[in-house]
Amino acid sequence: MAVVAFGLKRNIKSFLKKKLFIYNFYHFNPYYKYLSEKNLIFILHILYLLFAAFVNFFIRIKKDRAVIFFEKKGFYKRILKKNEFPYELFEYLNNDLVNKNRIPIVCHLDNYTFHNKVTLVDSQQHVYEVPELIINKLDQYLRRDQNFDNLIKFYFKTNYRITNLRLWRYLANSQKNLKTEVGCHYDMFPHKTLKIMIYKGFFVKSHAALDIVDPKTGNSIYSIKGKDPIVLLDTNHLYHGAKFPLKDRDTIEITIQPSIRIKKPLYGGFASGHPKNPFKSNQKKEILL
Ligand SMILES: [Fe+2]
Repeated sequence: MAVVAFGLKRNIKSFLKKKLFIYNFYHFNPYYKYLSEKNLIFILHILYLLFAAFVNFFIRIKKDRAVIFFEKKGFYKRILKKNEFPYELFEYLNNDLVNKNRIPIVCHLDNYTFHNKVTLVDSQQHVYEVPELIINKLDQYLRRDQNFDNLIKFYFKTNYRITNLRLWRYLANSQKNLKTEVGCHYDMFPHKTLKIMIYKGFFVKSHAALDIVDPKTGNSIYSIKGKDPIVLLDTNHLYHGAKFPLKDRDTIEITIQPSIRIKKPLYGGFASGHPKNPFKSNQKKEILL
């Protein structure tokens, strides 16, 4: 009897896997994982995603080359053009980090996940506060970019909103005394969360801005190279990491999540993650380190 029950459980699991692993780059699909772990936050996000997809049922996305590429690989990369908006963010980061009187605000909103073990990360310097005007400009920039706007809507099948922005410097380990290299990992965000990563500098294969890695062999599948690359990727499903940079590396990290309609972007903060309950609004609440 126990053997039959075990076999049935395995069959159900493999059936779910076949149905839910709809993209080539899905090494695991959090749908069934989160549901089986009874994690309320992730379940709320899945319900919200389903509801948003229902409301946005008539969204139709042009299946261009970028979409076809993303569908196979789970990312889309290009090089920043001269004078694109992200250079303003790099400038803001550069100016902010020289200010010695900054107050480390871990999280700026209620209804948000955050962690306060960031003091242990000795290889990263973060911006603690970004003005609303800058976030709004970033939102406009993203929505005006045909490729990114199209890719996000294709993947979510819903509208979207920015739910966080992190500006940070990844320090070179020239003195060999830093301990916290960004090792390979999956981001544990709710299902269908996308990141846009933008890196300042020139990167080569041996010291890429980011490596997308085969989780079974540990070999790099794709390295983000070139001058000032910008990449949209599903960091929940792509195993990824970044070695210590050769020179200090400035980074822009934008978190994007499904939304029922276009909404104002949210700024969680440098150590925050995402809204706990996506159905709820988020009020200002500063949490200090
Ligand atoms: Fe990550």
